[in-house]
Amino acid sequence: MDSSLITKLRRKLNLEQMTSLCSGENNWETKSYEALGIPKVVMSDGPHGLRVEAEKEEGKIGVGDSLPATCFPPATLAACSFDESLIKEMASAIAREARTAGVDLILGPGLNIKRSPLCGRNFEYYSEDPYLSGHLAKAFVEGARKEHIGATLKHFLGNNQETRRMTVNALIDERALREIYLKGFEIAVKEAGPMAVMCSYNSVNGEFLSQSKHFLTEILRNEWGFEGIVMTDWGAVYDRVKGVKAGLDLEMPGSGGVNDHKIFDAIKEGKLKKTRLNEMAERLIAFALEAEENRQAAGTPEPVDINEQHLLARRVAAESMVLLKNEDSLLPLDKEKLKTIAVIGKMAFDPRYQGSGSSKINPYRIEAPYDAIAAETADGVKLLTAQGYSDSSDEKHKRIVREAVETAGKADVAVVFAGLPDKLESEGYDRTTIKLPENQLEMIQRVCEEQPNTIVVLFNGGVVDLEFEDQPKAVLEAWLGGQAVGAAVSDILFGRVNPSGRLAETIPMRLEDTPAYINFPGTEDSVNYGESIFVGYRYYDYVNRPVRYPFGFGLSYTTFEYSDMKASAADDGTVMVSCRVKNIGERAGKEVVQLYTGKPDGKVQRPIRELRGFTKIDLEPGEEKVVVFELSKDDFTYFNPTRNAWTQEEGLHMVLIGASSRDIRLEAEVALPAPPLPKLTRHSYMDDFMANPRGRQVIEVIMSQFQSVTGKIIDTEDNFFMTMLHGTPVSKIVTFTNGLLSDKSVDRILEFVNGEDDSETFDIRCLFEDKEEKRNWFQSMLEGIFGKKEDNAFYTVDCPVRDLMANPETRAVLAKYCPDEYMHGEIMDMIISMGVTMRKVQKLIPDEYYPYSLLTTIDEELRLIPKDNKEEI
Ligand code: BGC
Repeated sequence: MDSSLITKLRRKLNLEQMTSLCSGENNWETKSYEALGIPKVVMSDGPHGLRVEAEKEEGKIGVGDSLPATCFPPATLAACSFDESLIKEMASAIAREARTAGVDLILGPGLNIKRSPLCGRNFEYYSEDPYLSGHLAKAFVEGARKEHIGATLKHFLGNNQETRRMTVNALIDERALREIYLKGFEIAVKEAGPMAVMCSYNSVNGEFLSQSKHFLTEILRNEWGFEGIVMTDWGAVYDRVKGVKAGLDLEMPGSGGVNDHKIFDAIKEGKLKKTRLNEMAERLIAFALEAEENRQAAGTPEPVDINEQHLLARRVAAESMVLLKNEDSLLPLDKEKLKTIAVIGKMAFDPRYQGSGSSKINPYRIEAPYDAIAAETADGVKLLTAQGYSDSSDEKHKRIVREAVETAGKADVAVVFAGLPDKLESEGYDRTTIKLPENQLEMIQRVCEEQPNTIVVLFNGGVVDLEFEDQPKAVLEAWLGGQAVGAAVSDILFGRVNPSGRLAETIPMRLEDTPAYINFPGTEDSVNYGESIFVGYRYYDYVNRPVRYPFGFGLSYTTFEYSDMKASAADDGTVMVSCRVKNIGERAGKEVVQLYTGKPDGKVQRPIRELRGFTKIDLEPGEEKVVVFELSKDDFTYFNPTRNAWTQEEGLHMVLIGASSRDIRLEAEVALPAPPLPKLTRHSYMDDFMANPRGRQVIEVIMSQFQSVTGKIIDTEDNFFMTMLHGTPVSKIVTFTNGLLSDKSVDRILEFVNGEDDSETFDIRCLFEDKEEKRNWFQSMLEGIFGKKEDNAFYTVDCPVRDLMANPETRAVLAKYCPDEYMHGEIMDMIISMGVTMRKVQKLIPDEYYPYSLLTTIDEELRLIPKDNKEEI
């Protein structure tokens, strides 16, 4: 976009006009200055269809009725498609409706991580995995853009619960932020460049997102190169002036100018730099011009064919539903062979197909499962029906259950529709359990006892406990299916569609097994993300915990065979991976091929494996395709908070191809080019030095020459001392040697290790270059600690007995005080071969033979004998 035009337009605005741009005109529009060439931008929820609010009745507040729109499957289901091109198609379809409705910007997709299954809004989010979330969000942005409509990534960041969502402070460590919570946003921002990002209400690590310079400017713009605008979630402003400084562009919805005035006053009072406002105004102008350009590029919109939209909604749903169990190949049902089907459960007639809150759409139509099954079977099969349970209460109605059981008993097969009633999950509150209502559980059990051929179809936004899953023969997890839910379920039940949905989140055995269980939803306004990077399968796999169904799992009516894996690393760290996948069954089907990487021998705590690629392929029976993935060196890194950098570990890495996180079919090792050596710092430890050739040299030189240079012994046999040495950062040598080595010595070590000086070999004397200067300072201390200046030149009891025996004079001193039998023979040989000091010998020998006072006497005498070959320092 022409930046000089934008600056020109901005200059036409006076201060008041500029500040007025910082908030919305109303709930869904930005302010405009048409006469000056700054148009308004119109936006609307939401992620799985449009929610253009109808005019509200005078004085009514809240989420009002909205105009009819196609209700596509919410993210919780759509994500299970594992299909970027399908998500793109869906976003384009939503965008076409947006265009005809005069909407420029969709308030979606939502890509918060499913940290806990209890989050009441999980139905609006994609996955527990950031790679999958980020790529599906990217596809959404691209799909909308194809129709010249903008998209908004939300809710940035750490909005992973609804409890106190407006005030809660999420305490998330840096690694978890980078690897899990920021990652999806990073992928979508960098790869798709969305028009907007919506910041969340909550704070992360003590700062509200709407005023966090760290996240909104340093990471989003400076690190990732985001060029769109940041808007607030609805009402997420706390301190608007701080928000301007942080990089928050637009407050939504409009607040009657309350906060714009604060910005105005802050500038007048000199508390806010005008340049900050200029930058912001320019971003908002660019945003408005982009929307205008999009409108022009789109031209006059064609009317949207709502039947086509419905068919797409059906396809997305059917391609995403996950078949979890299919004993005896009960599915697909063969309508030619069936005479009677029992359709049981209220949700067969009144399905749950979307969640509540700001994403709730007023669908054009709803295709209920019962109607779709009736249409599919036409007159050939008799359908029997029963309500099964009441969803207005958990109460167990004996009569309703009895009817269901009787109905099931009369049929060849029973299809039970169960799930979470609307009131159990919504934006605005979290769940407290993942259990299905008791009345449904009882009904399922009784029906299964009566009818062995029972299929359970589930409608739920968040994960439910499948404690009943051993009872029915088949389980179809249909999540929330959108307005064509019934047809999509029927397509799968009768085999028009071969199921290819895969779980975008793990189904745990129990709520208590979930990684955030003890930390969700926190205490008042504080929630600690104690599980760190171990979210979803990263946790279950790490602790080897049984799960009901793993991430990436899903059955098909056919079988796929994986073979012939190849993985090769290029010099730049790129890794090409390929394998063959063959459909060895009798039906055409789609397989989601998943690529993970892992570092089993890593020194850093890491997930066992992490998703780094996926692709969905379509195979006819007997057909085989070669699947190719390209991994970059970043796919093998972890975020090192100490270095504040993505870091690669040396050595071999695993590349794994599988059909779920726990069904790895092929694996290969790749040796990646060694990463550049990290710079050592004052906080580096001995192990860090040993991992660096120059560092190793320093350690070796110090270990071998320290004694001859300083006269002090490094007792390498003293385990505790050596452990301490290993566990102590290099900077501590200053205080630990009481100043014998100085800060300058540490600098010299680091200069050498980090290659900042020219020398190839390390000269220990450089550590003592300022010794004389220091002696004046530390004279008395040095004498106390290290003995007199000349100490190094004389023998002491701290010398190895080997040395004392080798010198005739010192040997004579020992002979004077040691009984003859100790001076010769086995004991002395051992003492000599062990290299122990005289001081140590005194400790090893009983006091009556060798009292401590004797040691002092010997020491005094030894100190009179000069050492041979003493090296001057
Ligand atoms: C939700 C957003 C939504 C906005 C507008 C907020 O309550 O968190 O996701 O876009 O309302 O409806």
